[in-house]
Amino acid sequence: MSAASPETGTPVTTATFRAKKAAAEPIVMITAYDTPGARLVDAAGVDSILVGDSVGMTVLGYPTTLPVTMEDMLHHTAAVARGASRALVVADMPFMSYQVTAEEALRNAGRFLAEAGAHAVKLEGGRVVAPLVRRMVAAGIPVMGHVGLTPQSLHVFGGYRVQARESEGALALLTDCLALERAGAFAIVLELVPAEVAEFVSAELAIPTIGIGAGPGCDGQVQVFHDLLGLGDFTPRHAVRYAELGEAVRTAVASYATDVRSRTAPAERHFTHADEGVIEELEASASLARAAATGLEEE
Ligand code: KIV
Repeated sequence: MSAASPETGTPVTTATFRAKKAAAEPIVMITAYDTPGARLVDAAGVDSILVGDSVGMTVLGYPTTLPVTMEDMLHHTAAVARGASRALVVADMPFMSYQVTAEEALRNAGRFLAEAGAHAVKLEGGRVVAPLVRRMVAAGIPVMGHVGLTPQSLHVFGGYRVQARESEGALALLTDCLALERAGAFAIVLELVPAEVAEFVSAELAIPTIGIGAGPGCDGQVQVFHDLLGLGDFTPRHAVRYAELGEAVRTAVASYATDVRSRTAPAERHFTHADEGVIEELEASASLARAAATGLEEE
């Protein structure tokens, strides 16, 4: 049994991430956005829950992650933190919450720990954000990096494309990861990177990499809750699907609608009956309620 196996119930920390990398034990991460979702994935034994800014697309109905605000993220992070008892909760810093000034970035990162109960934050970018990462870590805020396809830079990339395909891009990715590691990041998400590049970078780093669309050579994997469970309208290629809950929900709600329309729901076991005599007394005194309602209307 490992140091922080689900069986021990020991809370996962950033030290667990390091220990798991050293022991070559894969790290399991999944997104969640609310308390029931967090309870379920925590009870399933994941190591870490990411409150991703993907909440914008999965839950809030936006076409990208760009409109997601600090207030949105704090709200969803606090809900997740209330549902997680063992997993390490990582909050995504939304677009423009860390790009304007270092002071604002630091203050915003701190809010996730102080106000929302997160254990760490995640931000996108490599060398450019390394000085910020250093300041956050010095202030006591654990930071997870995120490189490769960084969805907040969607319009710079011109789409959700695989990154670091060429050797120049692969070298830039490695340089970014080393800069993040030296700045004190405790882990790095590698998104949409060729598997061989992700494996090479993972071997170069002492901190774990968490892959999504980056192959099996990463030190851990992260998936989006809605993709994994078949709850989204669109399934990206890198989504690993384990259930068709969307279909199950549609079927269940359609059955409910049919049963309400045919008056078979609610059934006898779903309600109570009035005590004897209550309806007779109500009939006798209903005129009082009608008169009172008329009086209220006239006021
Ligand atoms: O927002 C998110 O869910 C993410 C993951 C895809 C890594 O950043």
